[in-house]
Amino acid sequence: MAHAMENFCTISEEYDIDGEVGFALPNPLENLPDVYNDWMSIAKHLPDLIESGKLRERVEKLDMLSIDHLRDHKSQRLAHLVLGCITMAYVWDRGCGDVRKVLPKNIAVPYCQLSEKLQLPPILVYADCVLANWKKKDPNKPLTYENMDVLFSFRHTDCSKGFFLVSLLVEIEAASAIKEIPTIFKAMRMQELDTLRKALLKIASCLEKALQVFHQIHEHVDPQVFFNVLRIYLAGWKGNPQLSEGLTYDGFWKDAKQFSGGSAGQSSIFQCFDVLLGIPQRAGGGSAAQFLQDMRMYMPPAHRNFLCSLESNPSVREFVLLKGDAGLQEAYDACVKALVNLRNYHLQIVTKYVLIPASQKSKNNTSKEPSEQENKGTGGTDLMNFLKTVRTTTQKSLLKEG
Ligand code: HEM
Repeated sequence: MAHAMENFCTISEEYDIDGEVGFALPNPLENLPDVYNDWMSIAKHLPDLIESGKLRERVEKLDMLSIDHLRDHKSQRLAHLVLGCITMAYVWDRGCGDVRKVLPKNIAVPYCQLSEKLQLPPILVYADCVLANWKKKDPNKPLTYENMDVLFSFRHTDCSKGFFLVSLLVEIEAASAIKEIPTIFKAMRMQELDTLRKALLKIASCLEKALQVFHQIHEHVDPQVFFNVLRIYLAGWKGNPQLSEGLTYDGFWKDAKQFSGGSAGQSSIFQCFDVLLGIPQRAGGGSAAQFLQDMRMYMPPAHRNFLCSLESNPSVREFVLLKGDAGLQEAYDACVKALVNLRNYHLQIVTKYVLIPASQKSKNNTSKEPSEQENKGTGGTDLMNFLKTVRTTTQKSLLKEG
């Protein structure tokens, strides 16, 4: 087992992790086979269809299509993204409270079949709207915000491009740190402390660069638009009073099903470094631990298997503690510190993009407190408590305080 983690090519093949974009889907497909033109046409025109009030009618008129023509992983991922966007748009429509509780069977059946095939839930997940929802404008130019675009949005001005692409770019920047994982395990086995120290420092530096990329969010995402528009389309039907029973997937399951909405809480990258560094996010069984565990089922199965297999490898933290080497401990702490900084920054972002707009909205509504739902993340968490718990657990993992 330890040896399998010592070679990036093996990791890459077995767990679908790309050398350049990490957990993101490399060069996602932009088109489906022609039989799916109707799905594609709806997904491409969501902003106009929602605006004109014709979206639901178009979805209800769709023919029931077989998923048999989706033969490879990339076309299946694109179809999951397409059906996910259509489903969110169908359920929430203009986002004014007129909610649909039943997904028609002509779309529910292929969506659920495809979801079973991909082992993903039938709701728009981070692996769809961030990891598979992008393209380069000029294929010869680098992966920068300016040279990239998203494939699908919900409304004309919903900031989805900014939100999805900045999330993706943070993810990609942090992904260069995954390449150090084989070096870490090999250095531990060979007792090469200096090699281990340098690999840890490289991870810390990648995570620090990811934080710099995160700053771009202010330039590309407006807090009011994020809160009042995009967030609505990412909301799920688990613990959501608007769909308290969940969503009925007509023709597939008899009972309504509850699924969490799309959230970067479903990203594998942060969980990957928590596991690698032995930060006990999932210990103790509290609600934060449970949410992070639950979110694994919203990740592509290869990525959740990667996290699981990383957990069964020798502990980097215990190794560093055992050696008592000051340089090694400093390098380990630099990684933990970089994660703490990312999470502290993320907390500021959540204050700006969720808490402040929520309190402004409730002021305008002349009620005193933001509603319970408005204080929740799209993943359905009691957000500040959850995020602070995760941040504090990270901070407590520093070997040397301060
Ligand atoms: C406008 C920007 C953002 C907002 C408002 C936001 C909001 C949230 C919220 C509310 C949660 C709690 C889970 C839920 O209920 O959804 C969460 C979790 C999380 N978010 Fe974000 N987020 C933003 C951007 C990002 C970005 C760009 C990343 C990095 C790719 C990210 C990574 C995470 C992670 C890893 C978690 C799980 C908690 C953790 O491990 O610390 N978020 N986010």
